[in-house]
Amino acid sequence: MNQSPLLSLLEEKPGAFVSGEEISRKLNVSRTAIWKQIRKLEAEGYVIEAVPRLGYRIVERPSRLSPTELANRLTTRSFGRHLRVFDAVPSTQDVLRELAEEGAPEGTLVLAEQQTKGRGRMGRSWVSPAGKGVWMSLLLRPSVPLHMTPQLTLLAAVSLSRAIARVVPLEIGIKWPNDLLVGGRKISGILLESAAEDERIRYVVAGMGISVNLEEQDFPPEVLEKAISLRMAAGRPVDRVEIVAAAMEEFEKLYELYAAQGFAPIRALWEAHSVTLGRPATLQTPHGTIEGIPLELDDLGGLRVRLADGSIRTVYSAEVGDR
Ligand code: BTN
Repeated sequence: MNQSPLLSLLEEKPGAFVSGEEISRKLNVSRTAIWKQIRKLEAEGYVIEAVPRLGYRIVERPSRLSPTELANRLTTRSFGRHLRVFDAVPSTQDVLRELAEEGAPEGTLVLAEQQTKGRGRMGRSWVSPAGKGVWMSLLLRPSVPLHMTPQLTLLAAVSLSRAIARVVPLEIGIKWPNDLLVGGRKISGILLESAAEDERIRYVVAGMGISVNLEEQDFPPEVLEKAISLRMAAGRPVDRVEIVAAAMEEFEKLYELYAAQGFAPIRALWEAHSVTLGRPATLQTPHGTIEGIPLELDDLGGLRVRLADGSIRTVYSAEVGDR
């Protein structure tokens, strides 16, 4: 990507202000055009101070996800070892899906600084501004039948919550199936998309979004009520490379455990991190809304819920809300 001329000008004298007049003259652009370019740099993660009469200066640069640095930090066997990092893509899910179709190996990881069409569960969009989060998709080629994919969703949630807690000392709760919450607000979401032939899984694209260094203004107001970033929760910026490396390590470890011992140990870990079990909830399922108390997971990863009449219903897809 070519560096913007405005950025080059601001970087000529690090820390010093460059006046609007000088910028207009040197770049031959209007004040409005300068302002637009400043906004663009801010959207890419630059923090630019603007002071009347003095001009503009860079106070913070976006940290870049460096593939070399990441490769140096990884201690995994295969997860993250085939790595592609992009500046901006519509969604890392689609990029990885294409690589999967071309035969990419298990553990291939696609990361993007920014997603322009990041997507979440239930057809929602996912806020993915540049340089501020971990937006990544990991390729799995599990040898389990398709109806067991909910287990992988829960495995992903446990892996990410352990990884984040390793880097930032926060209490992370998992809301069924795979939302990670801090103080009741969402810090990370997971989206698994699979390709299958009948009951045989060809591959799974495990999409993970972690709001690492977003600030309040990076969230749309309606999202901010329910979301938070690691930076906001911890009160300091967090190293994204460390988060990715920890996520790959935890995910690989639990995936190997799952291959060796099945779902039981994953289920126990999930239940220990859950903020859903035992609390009255409203569940919006594709077949309507139900109210009850989620009790436990079933063997496939479904949620067993006790309804008001005492009967038990198992749910495999739902949005869980408080009651
Ligand atoms: C959710 O909670 O609704 C799931 C959010 C998943 C977001 C991640 S970010 C990386 C990957 N690419 C996407 O478009 N979505 C997932």
